[in-house]
Amino acid sequence: MQNKTKIITTFILIALGFMFSVIYLAPRTVTHMPATVAVPEGVLYAGIFCMVFPLLTFLGVRKVEISKWFNVEIGSDFRELATAETTPQKEIPAEEKEEKRKYAEIYIEKKNTQLPGQFAPDFQVLDEKLAMTVTPCADQMTPMYMLDRNFRIIDWNIAFNLCFDRTLEGRRGLSVLEWTYFLDNYEEVLSHGIDVFAEGKTLPRIDIEKIQYTSDRYGKIESTKRAYQIPDDDDSCLGWLITINPTFTEPEKAALYQADMFTALRKTLMWSEYTLCYDKVLNNTLIYPELIQTLVGNHKPGPLPIEKSSIILDIGAGTGNTACLLAQQSPQRLIIAIDNNPLMLNTLRRKCQAYLRQDAQGPGIIAIKQDVVSLFGLNDEFFDYVIINNVLYSLDTDAALSCLKEAWRVLKPGGEIRISEPQKSTDLSIVLEQIRSDLKKNGRYNELEADFLKLRQINEFSLQPLLHRWTLDEMEKILLLLPDFSSITYKTDRIYAGQSMMICGRKRS
Ligand SMILES: C[S@@+](CC[C@H](N)C(=O)[O-])C[C@H]1O[C@@H](n2cnc3c(N)ncnc32)[C@H](O)[C@@H]1O
Repeated sequence: MQNKTKIITTFILIALGFMFSVIYLAPRTVTHMPATVAVPEGVLYAGIFCMVFPLLTFLGVRKVEISKWFNVEIGSDFRELATAETTPQKEIPAEEKEEKRKYAEIYIEKKNTQLPGQFAPDFQVLDEKLAMTVTPCADQMTPMYMLDRNFRIIDWNIAFNLCFDRTLEGRRGLSVLEWTYFLDNYEEVLSHGIDVFAEGKTLPRIDIEKIQYTSDRYGKIESTKRAYQIPDDDDSCLGWLITINPTFTEPEKAALYQADMFTALRKTLMWSEYTLCYDKVLNNTLIYPELIQTLVGNHKPGPLPIEKSSIILDIGAGTGNTACLLAQQSPQRLIIAIDNNPLMLNTLRRKCQAYLRQDAQGPGIIAIKQDVVSLFGLNDEFFDYVIINNVLYSLDTDAALSCLKEAWRVLKPGGEIRISEPQKSTDLSIVLEQIRSDLKKNGRYNELEADFLKLRQINEFSLQPLLHRWTLDEMEKILLLLPDFSSITYKTDRIYAGQSMMICGRKRS
């Protein structure tokens, strides 16, 4: 039933209930009414029913929602979820991929040619040095991606992620051929690519072709794809900027795409704006550094210190305060910091410059632009620790669960996950007041007042509605559902001005 109809029905039922009750009760309570007006008891029951029924329905609906939410199996398929954020990354069945790979192999053998960039080695997702740290952007609504001169995937924008079900996520450094497997007209695209871009061809300045794709969320998409060559300083080819002009076969899907884009862009802008005041304010408080120190095991009460030579994943790393502290504490650690906000990541890279890993081996910090909902591209059981600080609350519930499931997948047996988040009882005004008072104690308030007010505005208007998701008990229940969960190693619901929770759990060895 539509919400409007539900409200009208509820209103009519309650009004009827009230009317029946008055009809029954009036002759009994109003003394001057003639005693002959005898209204049967059934009228009263009908009245009670009319008033209570909508109430029960309302409670029933809540219960169904809540139980659905609690019964979410961490390993379940998320394909039925409603928002763009929770539409899972599209995967291609292994046999279909193998079939398409074979087709390409036979095709080039028959034509006695090569695939574009065929002999360029894939670069690893963890090989920071090779990644150009540029995200294509012009018209935000136009899906775009970038390739290097060897047709290896460099980056893509939000519109691309939405339209194409995050199919490039985790594929940075691989040949773009990997992505063409997802296209409905793969064979056509392959032969066009070989005709135009194969080794030895004179590369065009612009190449235009049609691509067809079936999106999990938006249905069939027919597009014109334009690949613009990016010239290097010596006019040789540096890489490619590819724009896609999508036409949605179903018109209502075009509207859905636009609505999703606005939601995603609003969120990105909010995080970007947050970046500008985040460090200035929070790093001058007492509560935020204490939270970070507790997470890494440097504060009592709190979890044990993070081991000196460990591999750590910082999910939603933001401006890099945790990553930087971890690297400062021990030069033997390898820290992978992931976030999908370019401004946050740039701040992190600047702050952690001294620790950014210089080659494909050894310790240091690697900053990767990646959506935390899927950690595709990161190996199973790779990390000794996974840290998630103030990130899950900002995602849709199912996206947050998907992020947790992924975090657990990449955690080694015996590894530990450390999570700190706001909770159902979080009182934002107490946190903000504490921040203000900390700034004053540190003698920084006057200088940072404008930044504090900006931070307060973002928290009150954008983040506040998202804060009250889980209690510590509920978060614990969710962790206990994870496969091979061993034990809770630390928990509190009184951190960060007493308003946040921290929970740490170990995976069975
Ligand atoms: C409140 S900040 C916390 C930053 C950091 N963990 C800290 O403790 O300071 C939340 C971070 O999560 C990132 N984030 C939110 N949703 C994300 C997503 N879907 N994928 C990647 N990062 C995301 C934001 O860009 C932001 O940097």
